[in-house]
Amino acid sequence: MSINRDVAVFDQYRAATKAPVLAAEHLSLGYAGASGVVAAVDDVSFKIAEGDRLVLLGPSGCGKSSILRAVAGFHTPTRGRILSRGRPIDGPGPDRVVVFQEFDQLLPWKSARENVAFPLVHARGESRRLARERADEALELVGLLRARNSYPHELSGGMKQRVAIARALAMEPDVLLMDEPFAALDALTRRKMQSDLLAVVERVGATLLFVTHSIQEAVMIGTHLHLLSPHPGRTVAEFEVTGRSDAERKSTVREVERLLVGEEVAA
Ligand SMILES: Nc1ncnc2c1ncn2[C@@H]1O[C@H](COP(=O)(O)OP(=O)(O)O)[C@@H](O)[C@H]1O
Ligand SMILES: [Mg+2]
Repeated sequence: MSINRDVAVFDQYRAATKAPVLAAEHLSLGYAGASGVVAAVDDVSFKIAEGDRLVLLGPSGCGKSSILRAVAGFHTPTRGRILSRGRPIDGPGPDRVVVFQEFDQLLPWKSARENVAFPLVHARGESRRLARERADEALELVGLLRARNSYPHELSGGMKQRVAIARALAMEPDVLLMDEPFAALDALTRRKMQSDLLAVVERVGATLLFVTHSIQEAVMIGTHLHLLSPHPGRTVAEFEVTGRSDAERKSTVREVERLLVGEEVAA
């Protein structure tokens, strides 16, 4: 029994326990058209470790939403596979919860609190009392506890997105999927939502797969960036965002612009 062998065994053990929360392997996606399948995404692979925030960044139409829908289990790949904690997914599950861009993702006849509590009761089988308590905790996290009895039509776009985020966080998914959740907000609200989201996910240690066409947003939110080419989406580059100071962020933005040069990505 040598120390070296023990070290090797320990390294194997560590590698096994560090299995990614989510992995996409050689993912290709397409849609049936009049003359066969039209490719939307071509051979994209990525891994997300616990607590990481991976941002898929690319121009409109490059297949970001298609990837997110496939990860959510709503769309079957034409090639490749998606693994959740090492197991191939075979449909939607409470381990992967989505926040969409649209403001109409809440149930209009339910209050903010009821919207957050609803999936806890119906998808997780929690008691109504516990679900209400957990809904209040989640609404407090996103700064909306005082609006808990308001109905969606009484809330601004930004507040509705906060409710949708609270609802997703309350489900405690393995990975939180976000498809341009702030794209329909005005620029100032959007900035505020970005920094508030960052504070909340860092506080609860959430693992994120976030999709956007905004370089600024990607650099602000992500610990890792995965850059995609225009249609059909292919991997251009993937890297970790290291520095978080303003100067380091600016330099990352310049680097991303350089990598996506000529790809017509809106800032
Ligand atoms: N339901 C659909 N049927 C046919 N084509 C689709 C459908 N959804 C998306 N597409 C096509 O797939 C490509 C990628 O779309 P999408 O995933 O929405 O890109 P993104 O979210 O990056 O803007 C586009 O060319 C789009 O037209
Ligand atoms: Mg999209």
